Formats: sequence, C-alpha cells, structure tokens
Amino acid sequence: MSKLYEAVMGLVVADALGVPVEFAPRDSYLVTEMTGYGTYRQLPGTWSDDSSMTLATLESFKRKGCVDPADIMQNFFLWLFEKRFTARDYVFDVGNACRNAIWTYGQGVAPQDCGGTEEQDNGNGALMRMLPLGLLLVLLEGTDEAKAAAVRQVAGLTHNHMISHIGCLIYVFVAEELLRGSEKREALSSALERAARIYGNEPAWQNYVRLPEIETLGREEIKSSGYAVDTLEAALWCLLRTESYRDCALLAVNLGEDTDTVGAVAGGLAGLIYGLDGKTGIPAEWIEVIPRKAWIRELCEGVEAIRC
Ligand code: AR6
Ligand code: MN
Repeated sequence: MSKLYEAVMGLVVADALGVPVEFAPRDSYLVTEMTGYGTYRQLPGTWSDDSSMTLATLESFKRKGCVDPADIMQNFFLWLFEKRFTARDYVFDVGNACRNAIWTYGQGVAPQDCGGTEEQDNGNGALMRMLPLGLLLVLLEGTDEAKAAAVRQVAGLTHNHMISHIGCLIYVFVAEELLRGSEKREALSSALERAARIYGNEPAWQNYVRLPEIETLGREEIKSSGYAVDTLEAALWCLLRTESYRDCALLAVNLGEDTDTVGAVAGGLAGLIYGLDGKTGIPAEWIEVIPRKAWIRELCEGVEAIRC
C-alpha cells in the first residue's frame, strides 16, 4: 500500500471520527470508537470538508501532474456546488473563509485573488488540505523556496495571509520529512529549521514560537479551535504524545471544539507514520465504515511526485 494512501486514509478516518463531535466543548464527551450522528447527524465514517478539499486537491495533482492552482480551485467549486469529492453526495460543512473564496471564484474572480488576506482569515481551512502537497512535492531538486511558493499559491486560494502560509509550510515540511523516514521529533525540528530560513524574520513567525517545545505543554495549554495556529499546535502535540494511530486520533478528537480538523491534521501524519498494519496502524474497523474507499485508493495510485 502506498504511503500516500496510508496518510490520506489517516486524515479521512480521523476527520470522520471527529465529525460527530465537532464544536462540542472539551470533556463534554469521550470518543473511543468510530461513531456517527451527533453534530451533523451523519452515518459513521462520513468524512467532511477537510477530506473533501484534500481529495479535490489530490485529484488535481494526479490529473495535471503539476501544481495548477486554477485547476484546484475549479475542483473546490465542483465540491461545493456540484457535490463532487464528498462522502455521500452532499456538503454538510464548509468554513467561512473557504466558502467566501470559492463563492468569489464562482463570480468570475481570478483564483489567486479569491483567498482572504486579513488576519482574521486564518482559519484552518488551508492547513487541513495540505497533506497531498507535503507528500508529493518531493522532487529532490526543488528548492525550499520553490516549495514555499507552491504552498503559498495552493493555501492562498482560500487563505492568503502570512499566518496561514507559514503554518501550511511547516506542515508540508513535516510531512515531507516523515515520508523520508525521519523520526517524528526530528521531522518537526528539521521542518521548523527549514521554514525559519524562509519566514523566520517575518513578524507572523512569532505565532509559531511554541512549536519547538510543544510536546512539553500541558493539555490545558493546547487550544483546539479553528484557528490555524491552534490547530497545528494541537495536531503536533497529539502526534508527539502518542505511539499509535488510534491513540493519536482519539487524543485529537477528544480535545473538543474543532475535532474533525485537529483530527484530520494529526491523523494524516499519524497514518503516514503508523500505516495500516499491526497494533499501531489505523484500526481496520475504522477504515471499514469509510465510504468510497476504492475511489480514494485509485486517487492515491500511480502518483509519485509533482512539479512545483
Ligand atoms: N485568530 C483567531 N481565530 C481565528 C483567526 C485569527 N487570526 N482567523 C480565523 N480564526 P473559518 P475555514 C477562526 O470559519 O478556515 C470547517 O468547519 C475563526 O474565527 O474561516 O474556512 C472545517 O471543518 C473561526 O472560528 O474556517 C474547519 O474546521 C475559525 O478560525 C473549518 O471549516 C475557522 O475559520 C476550516 O475552514
Ligand atoms: Mn473542522
């Protein structure tokens, strides 16, 4: 099974684990298995916009073989308005920044001019769909600057502010380091070093200064809101504090608030690390209830790398 499939399934499964409890306050519930219903009254295994936008991005990469932001935006449009890339033929959640940008695109505005540029436009809606870029942008000769430019373009379709650009780049670099086989702590420190070379002097970098020591923070210091900075911190905290896919995904979705997205962001990396097998891999009974698996598998096959 390809690493890409394992990572994408990790993201989709944790998204689906979090969907029934999205927006529930921390410690007002306890998720221990895949369930359904709750917040959106969906069947167990139903993934949300986090996975839909990730799969829409991946589909574009596969078909185009390169980063084509306009094509990715068109896929987002097809998702929101024609229900493509959904779990069950309808859309039941979309973030404000994502909806505004896709709506603006639908009015005929150029894709690169649709993403929000204000500080308050830094929800996690770009971060939650960066995994394919992290795993496919591995051309050895590609410079980190070129990769950062690709991340800016893809994130910027909906989230065009420096805070989102930086968070997305850190995540993409972590995914890339993990794919190369780095241990998770090494992956984070290399990712931070690489991202700091590009953005370290930007004022917005200050939002990410807790990341090097994130593992040492207590649960009460970790927020699980829909703000991109909180989501990246929470996801990495869950990843570093656990040693299996199950524990990582459950720790994430039990933080409360933006459960599906913290789950998705953490789960993608956990799927990459732990895969599908054995005691630490993604539990088979969680994968079992995910719809459209054959299609997801197809999307992940035969796509190895993309050009910047
Ligand atoms: N500081 C604090 N909070 C912020 C900031 C900021 N600078 N910027 C945004 N937020 P939204 P998205 C908060 O709705 O990114 C789906 O539900 C903002 O106030 O624009 O388009 C997915 O499952 C809001 O509470 O979302 C994801 O959860 C939150 O960030 C979400 O939508 C999300 O911003 C992602 O889409
Ligand atoms: Mn969410």
